Amino acid sequence: MENIKILKKEVDSWIENYFLDKGCKYNKRIYEAMEYSIKAGGKRIRPILLLIVYSMYKKDYSKVLNMAASIEMIHTYSLIHDDLPAMDNDDLRRGKPTNHKVFGEAIGILAGDALLNEAMNIMFDYSVKNKQLGIEASMEISKAAGAEGMIAGQVVDILSENKSIPIEKLNYMHENKTGALIKASIKAGAILSNAPKEDINNFEKFGKKLGMAFQIRDDILDVVGNSKTLGKNVKSDEENHKTTFVTVYGLDKCNEMCEKLTKECLDILSNIGKNTGDLEKLTLFLLKREF
Ligand code: IPE
Ligand code: IPE
Ligand code: MG
Ligand code: MG
Ligand code: MG
Repeated sequence: MENIKILKKEVDSWIENYFLDKGCKYNKRIYEAMEYSIKAGGKRIRPILLLIVYSMYKKDYSKVLNMAASIEMIHTYSLIHDDLPAMDNDDLRRGKPTNHKVFGEAIGILAGDALLNEAMNIMFDYSVKNKQLGIEASMEISKAAGAEGMIAGQVVDILSENKSIPIEKLNYMHENKTGALIKASIKAGAILSNAPKEDINNFEKFGKKLGMAFQIRDDILDVVGNSKTLGKNVKSDEENHKTTFVTVYGLDKCNEMCEKLTKECLDILSNIGKNTGDLEKLTLFLLKREF
């Protein structure tokens, strides 16, 4: 089986096992809600990125599967909250009714909170056992999820509904709401494997561009995508009067930008003296993705 598919399977089964026998008769509902969203599917791009980068320097990626899965927990929490009526008010995610549609808003909010917290537990556990590199990687991830990262982007996204915003602000929004966690996944993989500083600097540049291309593609798919393939409703941005890359630049220019960013990503990878084959494959897949 192709390496990337193997990594996805590993992440899926780590998550599957993690939730076995969690909770007692009083708090079981929260685990049901957490599991519902995290096991609903998803491309697992962020954990896969961490694992690919780690594998470039170290053999046994099974040691960091927990760190990889913690990022997927943070990401899944962000999706549950992003879909809430107070935010994007969406009712389809990963091909299933959104969390709040099934469990109600209160449990949906708590399931998101709990996934974020579970990620922290896993990162602390790893850091206690692995010291410095674990702490550094965890810091990278938690910063990317916070008010100077994903939350910053989400705030600008929400406050910009029904408004046209300057390009600079649009870039800030995308760099943070999606780019930050994607970049952190890549950098965390490099940090955990004790990659050289010079490579980490290249991953920083690579991650920034990949994250941007990822969200531009997300904006494109919201307009031209197929709901069944995507697993989420299309035209959500239009309904919410969002400012997106598509509303600012139009579809053609957005496609061009994705191509350009992808090429720049591949150029950066060529500066890293390791086997970057899987990263290149994933980068190209993300450019063409339909889901
Ligand atoms: C969707 O992320 C939300 C964004 C940050 C753009 P993904 O496209 O990675 O969603 P899943 O995890 O595959 O469902
Ligand atoms: C969400 O961006 C980014 C997150 C941090 C969840 P979108 O609102 O465009 O994501 P989708 O399209 O609902 O997946
Ligand atoms: Mg949103
Ligand atoms: Mg949304
Ligand atoms: Mg979107």
